[in-house]
Amino acid sequence: MVNTEKFIRESIDEIMAAAGDDRVVMALSGGVDSSVCAALAARAIGDRLIPIYIDTGLMRKGETERIRTIFGTIHLQVVDAGDEFLEVLRGISDPETKRKAIGERFIRVFEREARKQGAKCLLQGTIYPDRIESEGGIKSHHNVGGMPLHMEFTKVIEPIRDLYKDEVREVAGALGLPGEIQHRMPFPGPGLAVRVLGDVTKEKVAVIREANWIVEDELVEKYRPWQCFAALLGLGIGVKGDNRIHGWIVAIRAVNSRDGMTADPLEIPFDQLVRIGSRITSDIPSVARVVYDITAKPPATIEYE
Ligand code: XMP
Repeated sequence: MVNTEKFIRESIDEIMAAAGDDRVVMALSGGVDSSVCAALAARAIGDRLIPIYIDTGLMRKGETERIRTIFGTIHLQVVDAGDEFLEVLRGISDPETKRKAIGERFIRVFEREARKQGAKCLLQGTIYPDRIESEGGIKSHHNVGGMPLHMEFTKVIEPIRDLYKDEVREVAGALGLPGEIQHRMPFPGPGLAVRVLGDVTKEKVAVIREANWIVEDELVEKYRPWQCFAALLGLGIGVKGDNRIHGWIVAIRAVNSRDGMTADPLEIPFDQLVRIGSRITSDIPSVARVVYDITAKPPATIEYE
């Protein structure tokens, strides 16, 4: 990007012009992309911006409270839709069908809430790599193209559509967003559901949410990876006391990347890995085994589904 300040000025003008006198809704996830859009739009149109945060029940530990704290002042609408999402996911194990089900539900919940707000304009935090991957048909992102909005909006505004992730972070810094948001790891739209292989249940989500939190707690500050998380691979055999038990197999994934298109596994000291493994198995008794994923992208993707 040539000039961050210039980009900010032009985006604010673009949003003001596109919105006219209308109210503008957006789905705010708390990731850097949607947060930057919210900050730009708040500068452009003040409280005619109505950010909607949908708690899918597939978010990271403490996420909803965190979002409330950070964005509480800008008319944030928080929607608790966890049960609805679990319901549509019930019995689905095919990755693409899961993504579609989540994307579809997300859009329907969003439409429902947007209608209540009487907004005519939609603001989206689509960035350049999202557009490329969606156009290539690699997977469906719920925040672009793929999922049809039944609702009629007179305008769709995508202020950061030409930016790469590192450029979005730069803008976040220039806008004065908290460092916590600026340096936030990417988190997929379908949330923890793509970190649970196969069908999604409340129990599996609870296990992976806790494991995810442990991995972040151990690695984020110390290594600043592009992304790190835990994924639930399935059930395996373990041993507790004198008994052989069925327990969850959890994979730790930590990668470095420039834009998410390619990635390399993070080199983590062995004792650190062992510590994370012990912490996961002792804090979450239903986990019997922890492995570290050493695959690059390609051939693996960053997420598991
Ligand atoms: P993959 O797993 O395809 O992911 O190597 C590349 C980057 O994109 C993130 N990701 C998503 N982000 N909606 C998003 O907004 C999605 O559906 C989605 N799927 C993956 C992933 O976390 C990684 O940073």
